[in-house]
Amino acid sequence: MKNVFHQLKIIEKSFLTDDAVLLTFDVPTDLGTYFNFLPGQYIILRSEINNEEIRRSYSICTSPEENKLSVVVKAIEGGLFSNFIKDEIEIGHYLDVSSPEGNFFYSTSEKITKNIFLIAAGSGITPIISMAKGILHNEPLTTITLLFANRSIEDTIFYEHLASLQTESKDRLKIIYIFSRKTYGNHYFGKVDDVFFNDIIHQEIDLKQIYSFYICGPEEMVKNIQNYLYTIEIAKDKIKTELFYSLENEVGIEQIVSEEIKSGRIEVEVIVNQESYFATIDHTKNLLESLLDEGLDIPYSCKKGNCSSCVGKVMSGTISMKETDVLMDYEIEEGFILSCQSVPTSEKLIISYDEY
Ligand SMILES: Cc1cc2nc3c(=O)[nH]c(=O)nc-3n(C[C@H](O)[C@H](O)[C@H](O)COP(=O)(O)OP(=O)(O)OC[C@H]3O[C@@H](n4cnc5c(N)ncnc54)[C@H](O)[C@@H]3O)c2cc1C
Ligand code: FES
Repeated sequence: MKNVFHQLKIIEKSFLTDDAVLLTFDVPTDLGTYFNFLPGQYIILRSEINNEEIRRSYSICTSPEENKLSVVVKAIEGGLFSNFIKDEIEIGHYLDVSSPEGNFFYSTSEKITKNIFLIAAGSGITPIISMAKGILHNEPLTTITLLFANRSIEDTIFYEHLASLQTESKDRLKIIYIFSRKTYGNHYFGKVDDVFFNDIIHQEIDLKQIYSFYICGPEEMVKNIQNYLYTIEIAKDKIKTELFYSLENEVGIEQIVSEEIKSGRIEVEVIVNQESYFATIDHTKNLLESLLDEGLDIPYSCKKGNCSSCVGKVMSGTISMKETDVLMDYEIEEGFILSCQSVPTSEKLIISYDEY
């Protein structure tokens, strides 16, 4: 069951950089299984701010073996929820926390010798460090290369923590730093793009021997690396990506679909938590907004096509969906959609939120 929230107490709050706050939650023993997660998954935090319910996703930065549920929230300029966490939330407060979800995760696989390439920028380190800790703990034959991009060492989340992980790992974790604002003699300077990959990374590492790639950072960096890896013929299924935020997704599907599709009313049957609900909605809004307006308890978080909380499956009828990297091609073929990125295009629609 997705998007069921529990109130958890904050038992740790500390600043990892000037604007990045680590929060640890107390998970009562009876809720333990409910908060089980795979390295790389995220939780949704929910709170009322200025009389409005706000939800945001945050990747878990601990690994399952630590028995600790922690996230890092990096306050962004003008950001509603991230600054609320940074300025208002203290140890002893409670927050509504969802069960972990998301398909950007590392699952421990066969015990074979392999090298995993983890790539992160800024706060994108959160799911990546969880994966690194999980791999180091569970896969003694696996080595990790971590490429981590930041503005400076002072801006680098987990800088000391990564240094100790590297020491403990006895050469199984290699970290390559690149900084964009300050130069350091022993680290690269500049930005991570296809040129950096071609001129530096490809010379240092045989990318074709990498077992799989996990990339989390700003859209431009993620897309650049992804495209570079495609040009050197790395198979698509070896590359997993996560975007915290996409500029492209600031334009909603409503602005994209044609006026023709936007007219008319549709009858929709919604299956959620094994119950069926019926509603009549129109085509002017995305499916998620329409169903929330009808009072239905549809799972969601970002509302912008960045997470995967609002995934539903079209059981009957048709929709038009904005292009997305969050769902795999085969999932889209099977009928899975992001509700916040879709508008209905048929007169009748049946959608289930119990299939994903
Ligand atoms: C799967 C997933 C996992 C995530 N994990 C983390 C995490 O571990 N740590 C973390 O700090 N954040 C994470 N995020 C991002 C987080 O959910 C919020 O989007 C972020 O904290 C900003 O929320 P806000 O309310 O402060 O900003 P908002 O009030 O929503 O946005 C303010 C303005 O900033 C811009 N903006 C929004 N988000 C970003 C962004 N991330 N970067 C740059 N500009 C932005 C928007 O254009 C907007 O106009 C994750 C997002 C997803 C989808
Ligand atoms: S609510 Fe995040 S993708 Fe739709």
